[in-house]
Amino acid sequence: MTTTYPPSDELKSKAHVDAAKYDEMYARSISDPEGFWGDVAERIDWIKKPTKIKNTSFAPGNISIKWFEDGSLNVAANCIDRHLATRGDQTAIIWEPDDPEEAAQYITYKELHGSVSRMANVLKSLGVERGDRVIIYLPMIPEAAYAMLACARIGAIHSIVFAGFSPDALAARVQGCDAKVVITADEAPRGGRKTPLKTNADKALLHCDEDVKCLVVKRTGGQTTWVDGRDFDYNAMAAEASADCPPAEMNAEDPLFILYTSGSTGQPKGVVHSTGGYLTYAALTHEVTFDYHDGDVYWCTADVGWVTGHSYIVYGPLANGGITLMFEGVPTYPDASRFWQVCEKHKVNQFYTAPTAIRALMGQGEEFVTKCDLSDLRILGTVGEPINPEAWNWYNTVVGKGKCPIVDTWWQTETGGHLMTPLPGAHATKPGAAMKPFFGVQPVVLEPTTGEEIHEFPTEGVLAIKDSWPGQMRTVWGDHERFEKTYFADYKNYYFSGDGCRRDADGDYWITGRVDDVINVSGHRMGTAEVESALVAHEKVAEAAVVGYPHDIKGQGIYCYVTLMNGEEPSDDLRKELRTWVRTEIGPIASPDLIQWAPGLPKTRSGKIMRRILRKIAENDYGALGDTSTLADPSVVDDLIENRMNR
Ligand code: WT7
Repeated sequence: MTTTYPPSDELKSKAHVDAAKYDEMYARSISDPEGFWGDVAERIDWIKKPTKIKNTSFAPGNISIKWFEDGSLNVAANCIDRHLATRGDQTAIIWEPDDPEEAAQYITYKELHGSVSRMANVLKSLGVERGDRVIIYLPMIPEAAYAMLACARIGAIHSIVFAGFSPDALAARVQGCDAKVVITADEAPRGGRKTPLKTNADKALLHCDEDVKCLVVKRTGGQTTWVDGRDFDYNAMAAEASADCPPAEMNAEDPLFILYTSGSTGQPKGVVHSTGGYLTYAALTHEVTFDYHDGDVYWCTADVGWVTGHSYIVYGPLANGGITLMFEGVPTYPDASRFWQVCEKHKVNQFYTAPTAIRALMGQGEEFVTKCDLSDLRILGTVGEPINPEAWNWYNTVVGKGKCPIVDTWWQTETGGHLMTPLPGAHATKPGAAMKPFFGVQPVVLEPTTGEEIHEFPTEGVLAIKDSWPGQMRTVWGDHERFEKTYFADYKNYYFSGDGCRRDADGDYWITGRVDDVINVSGHRMGTAEVESALVAHEKVAEAAVVGYPHDIKGQGIYCYVTLMNGEEPSDDLRKELRTWVRTEIGPIASPDLIQWAPGLPKTRSGKIMRRILRKIAENDYGALGDTSTLADPSVVDDLIENRMNR
């Protein structure tokens, strides 16, 4: 029996949404989406108020998603300017540096307005215009938020590349969206070490169009090489720039940003999010899921390089006039107490992190938590991967002292905001369950092979969504066909999430993990195909197949089967070399955990690699390999089992 944890009486009475209100609002969001979202859109400061609310189609051959299409607004004005009269001197962003000895910054809405306007004028002076793309490759410093909002202010489209990505990955994204400017910093301090961001950008720019400009923010003051005419000093230019920059009037459907994410095939795709629908959805979910009230100090530990940082560090909280904490460091530096020390120091009320961090900290012992004063914590959140019950229970009892509901938020880069989560004042929680759909979201469980909707429960199948919600991605940058093929082709008339799920006897949802060739490593999404193509790009590698396997801390680890070129000798040195190779091709997050030398890979007679078998061996569960008789050479399997790496 699963234990359920009902909301406290206090939360039930004080939360924005209690059970009765959820039921009523959810029902209306489905029966009358126009009325519901038209009302929700009142929370946005429109320049021109929309009259057309929803115009969406999941029909084959005509995938088209438009929300608030005749409305106009500016996202930066919504996140900053409209708060100035009422809360200009309130803190908007608390910035906590990597090194606890360095001073934290408290940036008010007024100051944010000045810095963002200046950055916007700097971008304009570099020739950035409405609709142009700007790549942001920055550490977790306030300038990352300034850069996002500066783009939004002038109608440029930003695309953030996580600072842990390699020069090659950066170059691919600069080229992929044809960016005019790359914003970077000298170095990114993290966990006491420094990543040479500008040097990485220099390497990347060698492979890009020569008129791409590079705007460099000073973070550490570390030395960088300088290319005159291409590189620009942000700090010098911002000091000179005007603090007045009128926000551009944007259509609700104009793209706000592109964010590259991995899929089961090919290169990462540029997920495109809109201006009006995205902001409306990010703001509402932030307020309701975290039960955010005025003056609360809210902390999401993600990096702005991921969608979580977009929606729940910057756009959602700031649209709500909130106080959002931005952390440059890592959970274990200087020691495993850092998260909790930051919570104590800034009196954090809502804390949102990933299961992988919880598992890592759980292993360090309770004292790191219990020595800190966490009495201001009210709501805990998790995101990025399924959370195992042990980690959930530890989070609940050791961190939350049994008093803070845990919102297990299921969503994706593509969805813009939470699609399923318990709401703190409305729903009971269950360790590991995403529980209930958010307003306007109609989850369905499909039979994987037939695609038939399964209505009864308990049941299990693949998770799809029946109709659009305002935060949904609009297209794949430059490739609408790929958008349709990826999300709407396998199951017609539904948005297919790529996840499997279970609906229990109470009708509550549990995410069971990806059902495609995407793996989830420490909450970071990784296409196995990407790691494979990095491996085979190495001169000594003939063939490679990559699968995930269960990993205690990371959730999933990266398991690689590698066939070497004729005449190449396997060795531990070569393993090291391949690991380094993948890190430089993609980035440290793609670093292989286990590399097995495979004289041959299990293939069908038509040459298709049987990944099911490779997954089973990697999981150390080779007793149930199923039918191997269709293999071209069944004997390769024995060799793979005998030499398996995960014992
Ligand atoms: C994939 C999306 C959206 C935020 C960060 C990840 C997995 C996400 C949960 C959760 C179980 C989850 C899914 C999803 N996932 N949240 N609460 N429970 N699984 O975004 O990189 O686009 O990855 O992360 O598999 O499809 P992303």
